[in-house]
Amino acid sequence: MGASSPLLKIVLSLYLASLFAAAFTSDERIIKVSIESEVEDGRNVTIRCNFNGSLTFDVINSSNEITPIGGCDGFGKSFVNTAFLRDKYDIKAVPGGGTLTIINLDQSRYGKYNCKDAFNATSADSVIVSPEAKVKNNQGYAYTSLPFEMLIICILRAL
Ligand SMILES: *[C@@H]1O[C@H](CO)[C@@H](O)[C@H](O)[C@H]1NC(C)=O
Ligand SMILES: *[C@@H]1O[C@H](CO)[C@@H](O)[C@H](O)[C@H]1NC(C)=O
Ligand SMILES: *[C@@H]1O[C@H](CO)[C@@H](O)[C@H](O)[C@H]1NC(C)=O
Ligand SMILES: *[C@@H]1O[C@H](CO)[C@@H](O)[C@H](O)[C@H]1NC(C)=O
Repeated sequence: MGASSPLLKIVLSLYLASLFAAAFTSDERIIKVSIESEVEDGRNVTIRCNFNGSLTFDVINSSNEITPIGGCDGFGKSFVNTAFLRDKYDIKAVPGGGTLTIINLDQSRYGKYNCKDAFNATSADSVIVSPEAKVKNNQGYAYTSLPFEMLIICILRAL
């Protein structure tokens, strides 16, 4: 391929640049969820959601059923939806977001925990809580897009 494809190389470079621009200058209203404590049965496990605005937490369990847990308004007030859930979860509003604490984690609460913009549910982030998935997908950027970016880098190098 080499010298015959300078245009392709430019196009790919621009595309790559836009990917990184999107990753690093993304708008401030992006939602980011992380696990703040060790994931272990019998412990309180705290999940932090960074978002400036009203947010909600829900969980999808291994039978793919979704349970809305509660949330925070943008003014420092938090709520857990039902008395039953209040024994199992605690939600607090914190500066720049909210925390969800799973009280005394047990197997019945393993699952995918979502934090969503209360006014736009498509704006969301999630973490998996289970002993096997301790720290998966709760670092900086969207790991799902990484392999693709790597692929582009490899193609660029090969040109
Ligand atoms: C777990 O969280 C609950 C509710 O916030 C709290 O009452 C309890 O003391 C916590 N337990 C531990 C071990 O931190
Ligand atoms: C929330 O707002 C504060 C202050 O404007 C800002 O420093 C912070 O980065 C924002 N956080 C998010 C997740 O948008
Ligand atoms: C998943 O959640 C639903 C609704 O709360 C519950 O009925 C079901 O038993 C749960 N499944 C598992 C495997 O925990
Ligand atoms: C809702 O969030 C999605 C994802 O962040 C965004 O693309 C869309 O523009 C938002 N919709 C509104 C009405 O703000």
